[in-house]
Amino acid sequence: MDISTSTPVVTGAGRGLGRHLVDQLLDRGVAKAYALARDTSTVRHDPRVVPVQFDLRDPASIEAAPRLTADATLLINNASTAVFSTPLEAELDVVRTEMEVNFEGLYRTIRAFVPVIEANGGGQIVNVLSLLSLASTPPMTGYSASKAAAHSLTQALRPVLAARGITLHGVYPGGIDTDMLAGIDAPKTAPAEVAGGILAGLAADQEDIFPDPNSQAMSQVWWTDPKSVERAFSGVA
Ligand SMILES: NC(=O)c1ccc[n+]([C@@H]2O[C@H](COP(=O)([O-])OP(=O)(O)OC[C@H]3O[C@@H](n4cnc5c(N)ncnc54)[C@H](OP(=O)(O)O)[C@@H]3O)[C@@H](O)[C@H]2O)c1
Repeated sequence: MDISTSTPVVTGAGRGLGRHLVDQLLDRGVAKAYALARDTSTVRHDPRVVPVQFDLRDPASIEAAPRLTADATLLINNASTAVFSTPLEAELDVVRTEMEVNFEGLYRTIRAFVPVIEANGGGQIVNVLSLLSLASTPPMTGYSASKAAAHSLTQALRPVLAARGITLHGVYPGGIDTDMLAGIDAPKTAPAEVAGGILAGLAADQEDIFPDPNSQAMSQVWWTDPKSVERAFSGVA
């Protein structure tokens, strides 16, 4: 696809990976980018960037967003939340919030945007998932489950959206050096590099995008020996 002619919408655009995605969409020549954020004062100040208030825990804001971005052709579902806790001690209310934001909110967002993108002649939806969609890690039990659910949703929706002229892309990054992993000792890639990998994969029409060196290496192992990835992420390998 030609990214420069798209009209993108990026969720979670105020910081982390989402902020870099907006920057690099502009670098790739888009005329306008919608930057969705809970606090719109956090998004990049640029005449090409249109801030839109958006909270994945607020269905009314999800329903309102497509009306405020009526010329959208590309939706990048980037926003997400994660809490670290051990599986038997994790607060179930916290796990419920992870499912609400990372699965239910994502699901609502896609359903809200499909009619808009379809009416604009079709386009693309990108779900930023995780390697943890494919194999869980115990300190992020709720997050891993929510991202696995989002991966399943991606598979379910792909043929349905294809019939409406919308391609659905799953992104499976490894660790990214953002607030989400602050203080966690793990291999991490700079968010600018991950954003570049996502947009390169999208431009190449890749359905499953492994946007950084760690995820590319792990994907090779996963295709051939998924149990070894499970063991590696469990911390006992
Ligand atoms: N960091 C990693 O190691 C890693 C690895 C694999 C995949 N990912 C995925 O990459 C994506 C970007 O993550 P990141 O690393 O940039 O994380 P981050 O730095 O923690 O940023 C999270 C973003 O999501 C937004 N967000 C959180 N809850 C929200 C809600 N209820 N409604 C709307 N927006 C909400 C945040 O907005 P506020 O500023 O308002 O909080 C922020 O913009 C996520 O989908 C994440 O799961 C990250």
